[in-house]
Amino acid sequence: MSIKSEVSMLEEIISPITLREFKEKYWPLNPLVSPGNLERFKRINGFEKITSIEEALKIYSNPVMVVGDAVIEELEGISDRMLVPPSEALEWYEKGAALELDFTDLFIPQVRRWADKLKAELDLPLGTGAKAIVYAAKNGGGFKAHFDAYTNFIFQIKGKKTWKLQDNVNVNYPVQHYDLVEAPYLPEELDSYWDGLHPEEELPEADIVDLIPGTMLYLPRGIWHSTESNEETLALNITLGQPTWMDLFLSTLRQEMVKNEDFRKLAYNFNTVQDTDKEKMKKNLEKMIEQLGEIVNGLSSREVFHNQDKDFDPYQTTQLVFRQLLTDYKE
Ligand SMILES: [Fe+2]
Repeated sequence: MSIKSEVSMLEEIISPITLREFKEKYWPLNPLVSPGNLERFKRINGFEKITSIEEALKIYSNPVMVVGDAVIEELEGISDRMLVPPSEALEWYEKGAALELDFTDLFIPQVRRWADKLKAELDLPLGTGAKAIVYAAKNGGGFKAHFDAYTNFIFQIKGKKTWKLQDNVNVNYPVQHYDLVEAPYLPEELDSYWDGLHPEEELPEADIVDLIPGTMLYLPRGIWHSTESNEETLALNITLGQPTWMDLFLSTLRQEMVKNEDFRKLAYNFNTVQDTDKEKMKKNLEKMIEQLGEIVNGLSSREVFHNQDKDFDPYQTTQLVFRQLLTDYKE
């Protein structure tokens, strides 16, 4: 192994903060704004290919998500986003749509490797999803208040974008995305561990941070945030999945349960089966609950750790396959 590969690239970016300090004080809960000059991003191999949206589109042979008012107009209000061929993306950009180049790492192997290295440096399980996304907008725009179930490292390359960041006092460690505009509606699962009142739409308690070229922002999952800009912007995000202990347990349990044919049998709708079968179904389920208890009691921490390489995010995996299928690798 060369000496270079042992140097933490994250540490090079956040210096003088060390990787160790980052893990102690910021990761995984607290945001970090790391100002600096744009040149330092070039220490990350592959970043030099993202100097402008035009350059990025030269290597990105995949449908591009275009977002904004121009799209709403085109689709007569049905949606604010759609996928367009990469050859049409700049036309949409000129019309004012924001562009989202999801899975940009598919086209820059060095960035793919950097994202994987970052994952390892942060001690994330092997099955954690990691990807790069380029965001570009000619006339600014932004996202309304929300929080994500992922974590992001945001590298501002062009223009100024103002971010509001506010602590989440409603939920700790959320496992799903939530847009504040949905309030007071809460999805059932999120509601089950939600506490207190929603924040106000404008996030009045937020810290306001200007991301200018050369600034890196570490945005943990769950932090309320909104963005705004009035100028041409370009940013590269490295997005990391956040597998939970629950995910590792569920993988481990499945691995054991699938060995028992009772758990593999067809399930029925309790409400529609004949009354005479209801009692039988109840008894069977109770027997399985007992078996499940035995499985849980027989688990070892080693078995749970061992499941760190499982696919924790089938949605992202499906997206990746879809992106790979649409990728035209021909020059
Ligand atoms: Fe977000």
